[in-house]
Amino acid sequence: MIFTVAIDGPAAAGKGTIGRAVAQQFGFQHLDTGLLYRAVGALGGDPVAAAEGLVPEDLARPDLRSLAAGAAASRVAAIPEVRAALLAFQRRFARMEGGAVLDGRDIGTVICPEAEVKFFVTASPEVRAHRRWLETGGDAADVLAQVIARDRHDAERATAPMVAAPDALLLDTTEMSISAAVETAASAIRIRIEQG
Ligand code: DC
Repeated sequence: MIFTVAIDGPAAAGKGTIGRAVAQQFGFQHLDTGLLYRAVGALGGDPVAAAEGLVPEDLARPDLRSLAAGAAASRVAAIPEVRAALLAFQRRFARMEGGAVLDGRDIGTVICPEAEVKFFVTASPEVRAHRRWLETGGDAADVLAQVIARDRHDAERATAPMVAAPDALLLDTTEMSISAAVETAASAIRIRIEQG
């Protein structure tokens, strides 16, 4: 079966958690596409060359989850040639046999507009910053400022900006538990699978 679940949305909205959970539930492969941009940013040097030469071990580098790595990812993600270098791999992943879940910013709009199910996962900036702060620690006000700055940068860039696909289901997790969000996503996927 070829079946793609596209999950887009701003930083720390719960995309990864929802993506991993539904992938496990349906036996699909999961790709956190933010990790590709984080690895390119962390490699340093020429970002286009880094994207073109990216190997799986680069995704296992320590520290890719830090706020600094997120900011570097957002910077390199605005470079069209970087995005172009990462496109074919993501497209192949999305349409591989057996089903795939990808989370990122442009999955439903650019990587896989034909995805069978699309979600745009959001939450208030305060709630998202709090979730990120639980992972990173540090100054809470600073984390909030960084989350807001990164979202603005990702939404305002010219190439593949973060935007909800017109046919995406909106999942606002501000006042939703993770399990409720996962269940909402899973039931939408189930309905779509049953439609064939
Ligand atoms: O999802 P994340 O926070 O790990 O993503 C890090 C950065 O990478 C994000 O700020 C923008 C960029 N990104 C992107 O441009 N397109 C994607 N599909 C995924 C991430």
